[in-house]
Amino acid sequence: MWLLWIIFILFAIKIFNKLSTGRCYDDNVMSGKVVVVTGASGGIGFETALELARRGAKLTIACRNHEKGEKAVRRMVKITKNQKIRFIHLDLTSLASVRKFVEELKATEVKVDVLINNAGAICTTRERTEDGLLKDLQINYLGPFLLTVLMIPLLRKAAPSRVVVVSSSWHKFGTIKDLNSKKYGYIQSYANTKLCNIFFSKELARRLEDTGISVNTLNPGLVNTSLYRSSNVLEKLRSLLLYAFFKTPKEGAQTSVYLAVSYDCDQVTGEYFEECRRSKASYKADDKESAVKLWLISQELVKLTPEEMNKCFSEANS
Ligand SMILES: NC(=O)c1ccc[n+]([C@@H]2O[C@H](COP(=O)([O-])OP(=O)(O)OC[C@H]3O[C@@H](n4cnc5c(N)ncnc54)[C@H](OP(=O)(O)O)[C@@H]3O)[C@@H](O)[C@H]2O)c1
Repeated sequence: MWLLWIIFILFAIKIFNKLSTGRCYDDNVMSGKVVVVTGASGGIGFETALELARRGAKLTIACRNHEKGEKAVRRMVKITKNQKIRFIHLDLTSLASVRKFVEELKATEVKVDVLINNAGAICTTRERTEDGLLKDLQINYLGPFLLTVLMIPLLRKAAPSRVVVVSSSWHKFGTIKDLNSKKYGYIQSYANTKLCNIFFSKELARRLEDTGISVNTLNPGLVNTSLYRSSNVLEKLRSLLLYAFFKTPKEGAQTSVYLAVSYDCDQVTGEYFEECRRSKASYKADDKESAVKLWLISQELVKLTPEEMNKCFSEANS
């Protein structure tokens, strides 16, 4: 009897979750729009890119694995019949790779309408990258920080243009104290990077005020992807709770798609979204002083010179 009850409760939770999942109902086409999505080889990024390709966008997917990237392009072309989809290599664990990616993009595109910083990882081993930075910090935050700043001139040329940053509800547990130190466990460290995503989005939105480039961030919810594969504990929890609690990747992509296409977001910047609606991030994410402090630390960690930074922003303001 108790088994029937468990099945009934799980089923009820599933129905509730399905009904409360936000969906992007805007049917805006994206033809003529140049879109870049990072980490689109699978999971939420793949589904986000697929939907934008379906709407006619000229799409670049930025992935670290050549084989997976090319395979994703082939699948997207096959499903959408959109031929304007390509892969460019981007490994966020390397600042040199980020710079190379932007050079390649600049050589082939004159503008970018939408940049979706989606790639992310949970790193259970506390490794440092070739740049001396914590691996998860660099993949989830510092790599995207450098990428976005270097892409400002391209975004400016397409204004009104959009930057979308995929964060997580885990940001609530994050801190930016001793960010690049190994003292944190991997879950705490992931949470820290997701808080950084929100500080970054808000601070970038402030710095880009009146340039026509909007910056918003989002929590996709709990989504059934390979994000949890690096951790036995999280992976077991995922298998256990999958049926009732997790969204499909397509459902998880809805808020990213909404922020990329919806006319509702035309004048919106510096905000946090969940379920295709404006939402409230944790109170700590509103701390402007921390956001400015993080910006300055990040600038140093990714070795952006003040001249280079000024150049990107002066092109945005011109
Ligand atoms: N799934 C969830 O429940 C959930 C919840 C909240 C927030 N999020 C966020 O959603 C975003 C997408 O995650 P997901 O759930 O779709 O996970 P996923 O299926 O593991 O996808 C992550 C993507 O990021 C890419 N990536 C990892 N390391 C990279 C690197 N060094 N350079 C470039 N790309 C790299 C992965 O490439 P490979 O295929 O080569 O590994 C993959 O394409 C992440 O930012 C994550 O933090 C997810």
